[in-house]
Formats: sequence, structure tokens, C-alpha cells
Amino acid sequence: MIFYFSATGNSEYAAKKTAAALGCGTVSIGEALRENSFSYSLKDSEPLGFALPTFAGTLPGAAARFIERLQLSGAPGYVFGILTCGGAAGEEAAALGAALRGKGFQLDAAFELVMPDNFILWSSLPDKARLEAILDSADRALDDIIAAVTRGEKNFSDAGGEPRSPYMPFQRLGAAADESVPAMPSLGEFIVTDACTGCGECARLCPMECIKMSGGKPIRDGECTLCLACLHRCPAGAVEYGDSTRGKTRYYNPRLAFITPS
Ligand SMILES: Cc1cc2nc3c(=O)[nH]c(=O)nc-3n(C[C@H](O)[C@H](O)[C@H](O)COP(=O)(O)O)c2cc1C
Ligand code: SF4
Ligand code: SF4
Repeated sequence: MIFYFSATGNSEYAAKKTAAALGCGTVSIGEALRENSFSYSLKDSEPLGFALPTFAGTLPGAAARFIERLQLSGAPGYVFGILTCGGAAGEEAAALGAALRGKGFQLDAAFELVMPDNFILWSSLPDKARLEAILDSADRALDDIIAAVTRGEKNFSDAGGEPRSPYMPFQRLGAAADESVPAMPSLGEFIVTDACTGCGECARLCPMECIKMSGGKPIRDGECTLCLACLHRCPAGAVEYGDSTRGKTRYYNPRLAFITPS
């Protein structure tokens, strides 16, 4: 079973391609969080995998929170993480190892997978040719990862010292904020432009349920994990984060549609 957290399809692609090769199922952490679904069973010695993006060099807060609440019956044969990132996964493997250790699981292997960087608040997507080259290279790297997972390669050691907080980044917003979560500096105001059609897709997609529809328009309040699903996947391109995203191309992994489910 492979759990994935994915706003723009990279980690979902990695999870589904790996699951198809291993013949196991996948679970969306975003959907599980929205549905309060935390109980799962593993078949005997089934591999347990996590395909997760890197947020600020560590685990996305939402994934850390899911793992904290996870109730898994059955003993996994092999535990691995595929850490998708735009450049480097930093200390995410250590943070994942620590989060899993808290649940009594030992991480056997963690694999960094460089994919297109969806954090367009501080940068922009590369041109189409460069994007395709990154996706091609990611595909080759993922094939190697799948081969390593299939042979049960172990590469994780806890010698890396203390992991950073597995809760980064969370933005505390409004009254519903959880005071135990560290506050983040503002990364751009959530703006909905006149292009919004009121379709509600952003509210449906938000793994933190912090987008509510009010008078036919979305408002954001609560605890945002800054996954950027609302920004990249609004069909009307109506979501902006301050001025930093204006005019920039949005991203959703174009190869996800070609994965055959296992
Ligand atoms: C809030 C946030 C923080 C990020 N921080 C990093 C980072 O520290 N290092 C990095 O290489 N990529 C970083 N990225 C890029 C993503 O990890 C990368 O694009 C990932 O593959 C996205 O996965 P997804 O398509 O499954 O959502 C960040 C993205 C977001 C949204
Ligand atoms: S997804 Fe876009 S168009 Fe639909 S409600 Fe949200 S902001 Fe408006
Ligand atoms: S508000 Fe947007 S960026 Fe924040 S958690 Fe929800 S979908 Fe992700």
C-alpha cells in the first residue's frame, strides 16, 4: 500500500507508477484527511510506501499529521519513501523516519526524486522543453527507484541527527488556527480574481478543508499547509498568492493521466 500526498500530481504519479509495478493499492492522504479516514490494513508482509513532496526541506505538515493519526493493522514487509522535490529533499527522509518511528515502523529506504518544482511563489516553471526534459529524467530515476524497491533495497540510517520539525510549512490563518503549530511568515495573500466561476473545485481539493464557499466565492480560513492545489488546479486560473504568481504558468503533472491503475 502506498500513501501519497500530492497537490500537482508529481507524488501521485510516483505512487501510482510504483504501485502498478508492485501490484499494490494507493491511498490519497488529502482525501483521507478530508474524510477522516485513518484506519487501513496491510496484507501479510505487504510493502508500505509513502510518496510525498518536499516542503521547505522536510515533510509536509499535512502528511506528518496524517501519519500521526494513522492506524495500520498488519506488519509491513518493507517500508519506503519516495520524496519528490524540485531540487533536493533535504531532511525529509529523517523527518519521515522519525514520524514513522513514532508509529512503531522502521523506514527501510528513502529515495529523492527530482520533478518539476511547483513552488511558483518564488520562481517560475521552466519552458516546455525543459519541463519535458525534467519529466523524462524523473521517469528514468523512478524506474531505478522501482527496481530498488522491488529488490527491497535498504538505504536509510538514522545517523543524520535530529530532523527538522515535520510540521513545515503550515500557515496559521484566522480563528480556527491550531496554536501548537508554529506560525509561518506570510507567503502572499490568497486572492480570488474576477475570473472565478464559483465552481467550488478549490474547496473540494483542499486537504486541510480551509477553503469555504461563501456567496458563490471561495474564502480561505483555518490551517493552510501551502500545498498550492488551489493555485495550480483552479480551472479558471483565478487563484493568486499576492502578486508573486500573476501571469505565471500553472502546473499539473501531464503524465499522470497515462498511468494504468493496478
Ligand atoms: C510549500 C512548498 C515548499 C516546497 N519546498 C521545496 C523544497 O524545500 N525543496 C524542493 O526541492 N522542492 C520544494 N517544493 C517543490 C515540491 O516539493 C515539488 O514540486 C513536488 O514534486 C510537488 O509534488 P506534488 O506535485 O505531488 O504536489 C516545495 C513545494 C511547495 C508547495
Ligand atoms: S476553483 Fe477557481 S473558479 Fe472554482 S471556485 Fe475556486 S477559485 Fe473559483
Ligand atoms: S488553501 Fe490551498 S494551499 Fe492551502 S492547504 Fe488548501 S489547497 Fe493547499
